[in-house]
Amino acid sequence: MPVVAVIGAQWGDEGKGKIVDLLSSKADVVARSQGGANAGHTIERGEEKIILHLLPSGILTPGILCLIGPGVVLDPEAFIKELDHVKTLGVSLQGRLTLDFRTHLVLPTHKLIEAHQEKDRGEDMIGTTCRGIGPTYADKASRQGVRVGDLLQKSRRLKVCGDLFDHHAALLKCFYKQVEPDRKVFLEMTERWAEALAPFAGDAVEQLHQALDTNRNVLLEGAQGTLLDLDLGTYPYVTSSHPTIGGPVLGLGVPPRKIDFVLGVLKAYCTRVGCGPFPTEMDEVTAEEIRKRGAEFGSTTGRPRRCGWLDLIAARQAARWNGIDGWAVTKLDVLDGQKPLKACIGYQIKGKVITSVPATHQGWEQVEPVYGELKGWKDSYSKRSMEDLPQGAIEYLETIEKFTHIPVYMISLGAGQEATILPRGEIIK
Ligand code: GDP
Ligand code: IMO
Ligand code: MG
Repeated sequence: MPVVAVIGAQWGDEGKGKIVDLLSSKADVVARSQGGANAGHTIERGEEKIILHLLPSGILTPGILCLIGPGVVLDPEAFIKELDHVKTLGVSLQGRLTLDFRTHLVLPTHKLIEAHQEKDRGEDMIGTTCRGIGPTYADKASRQGVRVGDLLQKSRRLKVCGDLFDHHAALLKCFYKQVEPDRKVFLEMTERWAEALAPFAGDAVEQLHQALDTNRNVLLEGAQGTLLDLDLGTYPYVTSSHPTIGGPVLGLGVPPRKIDFVLGVLKAYCTRVGCGPFPTEMDEVTAEEIRKRGAEFGSTTGRPRRCGWLDLIAARQAARWNGIDGWAVTKLDVLDGQKPLKACIGYQIKGKVITSVPATHQGWEQVEPVYGELKGWKDSYSKRSMEDLPQGAIEYLETIEKFTHIPVYMISLGAGQEATILPRGEIIK
């Protein structure tokens, strides 16, 4: 299985970081293709815990080439900070990291604009991570964005950065009535970025294709989750990129037929950060218990995550949209001892059953979950093989397989690599 795409099947934070880190031991290349520092991918190895926002989760595995593709939006300040952090952990980056020339940059003014946008939305706020993601993708689509390659030549840097800065400054001053940011300070900042980013800038798409041509094992690391997809998700309560399988196709130039295996990461229950529809959201008392047991606080913003029951309708939809070949079911251990244990097996609107997720805002507002109850189990946390797993946990996994028609390839029972069961063996041989 040389090319494996790892895709979040819910609203993000499914545990993609752990899964990618684990698969990295068999990979030659790990690549990010969309999103930006809104992502927070956690890797726990022994006592060490690291949260990556921009660097691919293969970075801790020596010798692996890490690529950041054109579809990512990169905050240079966050990137520099993350580079410094991994260096302090003793990670060698020499020849191991390429940031595509085409990747768009998040400017400080993007974040300022986003803060105003969110404030102006009032009670309709999206609850974004405030990492400048939406405004950066908007400028990219309006063809006025700044790309990594633009930083590298002085006259081009000053022109492109200066033009976008002037546009933002006018917007901030005239529309949002904010004191104009300092142009000189900003342009000096871009010089610093140019110096810091230059050693990593390159053609990541070409490097990826060279890896494909030579049958290297490639991991495509998705950020966010399917229901946050700009086109398919719970719009407008979505991110501004494509966390679905289109992400690597567009954001890295991966031909769809080159993807051998799509691994959907499915948390054993659901979480969502920020606002927007969440059909299986739990009552606050149960949510509080799960939040505590699952440490469900945002890896990027620290916000408490909203918690809900496993939504099999949403999972089935994610499987269809992404062409998922197998599930990695994560955080099963968090449901140890959970009583009652429910899973959503149907959606209805005004008493009428619907078989797919709603396509309208109104539909998402009105949808009501239909639950099935499962018997549950006491302890899965300490188990390391299918034979040892309690019967209730096996039944839970079988319910997922039967309902979605997708087999479970990985079962995660803790944050560390060792707490994993592979019921069908290795995905990357
Ligand atoms: P990502 O954004 O999809 O990479 O997920 P996050 O890193 O934001 O959130 C997942 C959290 O759950 C992190 O704190 C992980 O260390 C942790 N985690 C991952 N898998 C498991 C698991 O199977 N059990 C438990 N208890 N924690 C896990
Ligand atoms: P990972 O990769 C969970 C959510 C935000 C908000 C919406 C839009 O760690 O799974 P944005 O800042 O992207 O414009 O916010 O999307 N969101 C995430 N939720 N995990 C993430 O990433 C997320 N990235 C964005 O909370 O609801
Ligand atoms: Mg996360």
